[in-house]
Order: sequence, then structure tokens, then C-alpha cells
Amino acid sequence: MTSNLNSDIEPIAWVNGRIRLLDQTRLPHSVNWVEIDNWRDAADAIKTMIVRGAPAIGCTAALGLALAGRSAIAPGREAFLDKLQIAADGLCNARPTAVNLSWAVNRLMCLARTLPEVTEIKQLLIDEALRMLNEDIQINRTMGQYGAALLPDSCRVITHCNAGALATAGYGTALGVIRAAVESGKNVTVFADETRPRLQGMKLTAWELMESGIPVTVITDNMSAALMNTSVIDCVIVGADRIAANGDTANKIGTYGLAVIARHHNVPFYVAAPVSTFDFNLATGAAIPIEQRDPAEVTHLDDIALGPSNLTAWNPAFDVTPAELVTAIITERGVLKPPFSTSIANLQNENQ
Ligand code: MRU
Repeated sequence: MTSNLNSDIEPIAWVNGRIRLLDQTRLPHSVNWVEIDNWRDAADAIKTMIVRGAPAIGCTAALGLALAGRSAIAPGREAFLDKLQIAADGLCNARPTAVNLSWAVNRLMCLARTLPEVTEIKQLLIDEALRMLNEDIQINRTMGQYGAALLPDSCRVITHCNAGALATAGYGTALGVIRAAVESGKNVTVFADETRPRLQGMKLTAWELMESGIPVTVITDNMSAALMNTSVIDCVIVGADRIAANGDTANKIGTYGLAVIARHHNVPFYVAAPVSTFDFNLATGAAIPIEQRDPAEVTHLDDIALGPSNLTAWNPAFDVTPAELVTAIITERGVLKPPFSTSIANLQNENQ
């Protein structure tokens, strides 16, 4: 089917030797771009969530490292690599949970160490970071094809947070599966959890799907049980920030609760994520570092206090869904089924 879907949202671009980011803190009301020409600003954009979503922060960090390489002045190759390592660490520390960040930075650092000349390394960093940007879109399209096959011809899907074009270099992971299903002629209606406290579902997923002409209805995070109880929901599809070797999956806070509710209602719970989101070194999700963010994100809406002054709040940005609640993990290499310790070990072997 020819599609008029706008899947060309480009959250990250390399323009005239600078990183250009779509400022996701200002969507959907204003579409603004931020230009970045040094790695510290790239790390800052990741921290402040101008760019967010696991693959997107990986791609931004890779481009940030390329900027660090371009501007570094050092007396020789070793001193240059030391400077690069400082930038690599700074970028990796920007947000701790999504493993795509360190995966991207390490991929570049490993390649940099294979070359003898600083000028060659500088060029390679830029070429490789741009390759990763293009690769990510292709990966998402492939993942979309695998995932779309799991959806009925007509279906109603719940998603959480934003795992769309905005969270990647383009097309999206969980929303990529939905895009691919719609492009193949399936009739998909999406229910987007608003995703407190930062409202990625309300502000980003709803905007992105509406831009693409895909029917979307927003629900608050406490409505999914009632929705599954009172009407037909065919599946839940979410993205991931880090998947341990046993299939335990870190994703936006609230994902775990949604998975429990889906299991209670016999609704399949799918995770869509590229191979770069797997942390084969972590046996279980218990060791996944969970980012704690400013309590003001919970107690305030923009600058307006929602509760009494000096109210404290707990604000973990992610939670871990136990593997036993996951029906399948959709990757660009195919769909992984339980037992995940076996299917993920096979994936790791293929990946070596
Ligand atoms: O805090 P965020 O907005 O970066 O969290 C994003 C998510 O949890 C996404 O679901 C995840 O990164 C997958 S994005 C393809």
C-alpha cells in the first residue's frame, strides 16, 4: 500500500558540521531546533531531555564524541585519545539507564583506537557517527516489519511513553511497529498513556501519531486497567532502555505496572528494541541503574506547584519489568520468545 504517513520526523541531524536537535522539551506547541557544536552541550541536551529516548541519546552521544574529536588539540595520538576519553565519559554519564548511550560511545572509542593517525581518527568519528544515525532508521524499519506481523489486521494497542521517531534517529521502535502495520494496510488504533511525570505520551507520542495520521487517544496512566477491562485491547507495545540477559526490561516508569495489568487481562505485552539495547553482561534487571530525577518534575507542572510547598516526591525515571511478564521482544534480528535466557543468548552468539 502506498502510504501518505509522515514518518520523516527528523529529531537529530548533522547540518554544516553541527548537531541539530528538535527540542523535545518544547513540543508539541513549538517546533524549535537547537544547534550544538561541542560535546559538553551535547551531554547537556541529553541530561535536560532536549533529546531523549534510548537510541536517540546514543546517536546524539556518538555525534557529540565526533565533535570532541574534531576540536581536540593534543601533542600526539595518546594525548588525543585521553582527551577523547574525557568526552566519552562525560557523554556516558549524562543519563545512566539507557545502555544505547555507552554502547554508541564505546563503539566509536573502540574504532578510534584501531587507527594510527589523529587526522584519520577525527574523520572516522564523524563518518561512523553518521553511519549509526542512518543505520538506526534502517534497524527500526526492519524491526517494524517483524513486529507488524504480530498485530491483527484490525487492532487496538496501548503504548507507554514515546518510543517513536522522536526517540530514535527516525521511524521509531514501538511506534515503528505500529507504523509498519499501518503501512501494510492494517487498521491500528493507539491508546497512549500520558506518562507522568514528563508527559511524553501526551506531548510526544500523541503529536507524532497525529502528524502521521494514525488514530490516537490519550489516557492517563491510571486508566489502562479499566480500558482493558471494559473494551478490547489486542496488545501493549513499548520500547526499552536496557534489557538484561534474562529478558528483564527497563523502560519508562509505569511500564512495569502496565505489564502487570496486561498479564491480568491476558493481553500480550511486546517490547520492541534494537540489539544495541541489550546488556548481555547483566544477568538480571536487578543491576540496571535507575536514573533518579528532580522531584520537582512530579510536584510541579512547568513552574506551577501542584501540591503543598516543600512537598517531597520520589521520581525514578524508569522501572524494570520482569521477563516473565513479557510475551515477546521484537528486534531487527527477529522476534525473541521465552525462555529469554535462551533466545537472548542465541542473539548474543549471532552478534559476536
Ligand atoms: O526518559 P525518556 O523519555 O528518555 O524515556 C524514554 C523511554 O523510556 C523509551 O520508551 C525508551 O527509551 C525506548 S525509545 C525507542
